[in-house]
Amino acid sequence: MGRKTNTKGKEKRLQRKEEQLKLIAAKIVVDNANKLEDPLQPFPVFRKFSKNNVEVELSVSKVANLHADVIDWIFNLTKKNMFEKYKSCSWGWNDVKKREELTEESAWYLLAKSNNEYVGFSHFRFDLDYGDEVLYCYELQLEKKVHRKGLGKFMMQVLELIAFKNNMKKVVLTVLKNCPEAKSFYAALKYNMDETSPTNDYETEYPYEILSKYNKRLVSEPPNAHLQKSVPQTPSISSLMMNNHCCSSPHCH
Ligand SMILES: CC(C)(COP(=O)(O)OP(=O)(O)OC[C@H]1O[C@@H](n2cnc3c(N)ncnc32)[C@H](O)[C@@H]1OP(=O)(O)O)[C@@H](O)C(=O)NCCC(=O)NCCS
Repeated sequence: MGRKTNTKGKEKRLQRKEEQLKLIAAKIVVDNANKLEDPLQPFPVFRKFSKNNVEVELSVSKVANLHADVIDWIFNLTKKNMFEKYKSCSWGWNDVKKREELTEESAWYLLAKSNNEYVGFSHFRFDLDYGDEVLYCYELQLEKKVHRKGLGKFMMQVLELIAFKNNMKKVVLTVLKNCPEAKSFYAALKYNMDETSPTNDYETEYPYEILSKYNKRLVSEPPNAHLQKSVPQTPSISSLMMNNHCCSSPHCH
């Protein structure tokens, strides 16, 4: 008798194996990025921003290396810029949770300093998001006096350089629907609705959207990026998925 083969079962096993390997590879990419000393080091030209009478020096640091005063400024600026927006949607504002999020061990900061004074920051993380290696931009906050001078755009470009140099598949971020200025800003920078962005249904209205920009060197943007992505469910896989749900978004309460 010849050997019997269950082709469908074999295909499924192979597919699962492929997904597991992909996830392991993605985790290695994320871990390597998190081991960097200074992600800005390959881009010395991008350490300075000089435009519209704003002179800024940029640096990147892990949260563990930031002075307590800088963390206080980060928290206070976030609260100053976002308190009303959070309060007026279902997220609400919670000092303790926001501080916890801003100081979580995996947080990296891109800091903008002008004349010895901090004027803007981005909190970002290298992370797995639905199994994909991504740079997740949790916050981009600038002091009002430097708004609309090109600094926000420059800082997002720096994040993209860092992400793509380190083989992240995309830069992802969450934007509140009640922030038309931020939505216009990200639209101007060509961020699109991500495939993981949730869609309202009759039970839930989501106050936010998830936007992204793909690393064109690695992957082309899916044609229907706005559709929900299916997530592999194998336990060994899900244990690797550090952020396989809305908590990978900056504002999970
Ligand atoms: C949103 C924010 C980061 C933008 O940074 P910025 O340095 O002010 O923006 P830029 O000068 O780089 O703008 C780049 C482009 O984005 C668009 N844009 C920026 N701010 C905008 C606004 N308030 N309204 C409409 N479009 C805007 C414009 O097209 C602009 O180009 P232009 O000035 O040549 O027209 C900054 O305003 C900020 O910190 N706001 C408060 C916090 C916030 O909302 N953060 C985002 C949270 S999700």
